[in-house]
Amino acid sequence: MSNVFSESGVEQLYLYRVPEGPLQRQHIQSRRVNLEDSPPLCLQPYYFSVDPYMRTRMQPDGYSYIERWHVGSSLSGWGLARVTASRLPGWGPGDWALGHLPMQDAIDHDGAGLIRVSGESDIPLAGLHPLGMTGFTAWLGMCRIGCPQMTDTVLVGAAAGAVGSLAAQWARRAGARVIVTAGREDKRAWLRAIGFESVLDHRAEDYAKQLQSAAPEGVSLNFESLGGRFFEIANTAMRVGGRVVLCGLVSQYQEALPRRAPRNMASLAAKRVSVLPFVAPEHDAEWGDFQRAIRPPLESNEFSWRLDVVDGGLDAIPGALMGLLSGDNLGKRVVRCH
Ligand SMILES: NC(=O)c1ccc[n+]([C@@H]2O[C@H](COP(=O)([O-])OP(=O)(O)OC[C@H]3O[C@@H](n4cnc5c(N)ncnc54)[C@H](OP(=O)(O)O)[C@@H]3O)[C@@H](O)[C@H]2O)c1
Repeated sequence: MSNVFSESGVEQLYLYRVPEGPLQRQHIQSRRVNLEDSPPLCLQPYYFSVDPYMRTRMQPDGYSYIERWHVGSSLSGWGLARVTASRLPGWGPGDWALGHLPMQDAIDHDGAGLIRVSGESDIPLAGLHPLGMTGFTAWLGMCRIGCPQMTDTVLVGAAAGAVGSLAAQWARRAGARVIVTAGREDKRAWLRAIGFESVLDHRAEDYAKQLQSAAPEGVSLNFESLGGRFFEIANTAMRVGGRVVLCGLVSQYQEALPRRAPRNMASLAAKRVSVLPFVAPEHDAEWGDFQRAIRPPLESNEFSWRLDVVDGGLDAIPGALMGLLSGDNLGKRVVRCH
């Protein structure tokens, strides 16, 4: 990494160039920045989450619900950090905090928006995934937006990834028939190992045929995360009166603009399929309900989850994000920084 502004301060990641097409290492650089003197809180980051939406923040059109990154913007992400010094009542050295944090090797913070997590002697890793933003997204999208019933046939794409794996388990818990997909054999083996029987390869040429044989009666609820060709194939399989939970379109995030929309959207209208988009940050008020809902299946080990940990600290974040956007993660991808 280059572009060191000064020899003092801490290392911070920032957007050096806006990618046009696939993200490359050179698009993200590091620089040194000075921390505030004696801030309310000093944090030592232990893990940063890397997530597909980060690539979307680099697009010229961006997402409207989250601020776009421009050339020179510092990068930030969901992170787990430990308090090293505090002037804030209620926070003390050794406490664990989750929050949207600047990607730096040490952080000055005013405490706003931080969530306390308990860890005792262990690092509270569940906050990075099942108890954190990806867990919230899966629960919200499946249980509050999709609302699967026992009569549903539910399709969950990228189901060996963070959101998909938990969304699929919520649908199974509701008694629905669940079809899951993943683009690599070790991912599909994991899905079978955690009890899914109908496990398809969405990257295979014959994916449409696989889906047709797995759901001859059609799909009634599609939890859509992939977009592009995969979304089109799912649309073809929808039952009359079905619903699509529009969670994401990850296959399109690296495409040059304009991205490809499914060409067969008209078939959804013909089949009276409801398309239900959502963005998790707009549902903050439901965070407490989520925390109460997720505890029983997590604590009884009914739900399985895994982290995909990349070592190497801040320097490893660009490569970890590039890999995520081509599918090399199994489980929730995080970067260890300590
Ligand atoms: N609506 C919301 O508020 C919200 C919040 C969080 C996440 N999301 C969305 O949820 C989806 C999953 O996010 P996540 O954090 O859980 O990531 P993830 O599923 O852990 O990782 C992304 C997965 O997507 C698949 N993928 C990546 N690039 C692809 C490509 N070019 N073509 C086809 N498949 C590709 C890969 O799975 P395979 O190897 O199996 O293909 C990869 O493992 C994304 O669409 C994301 O934008 C939405």
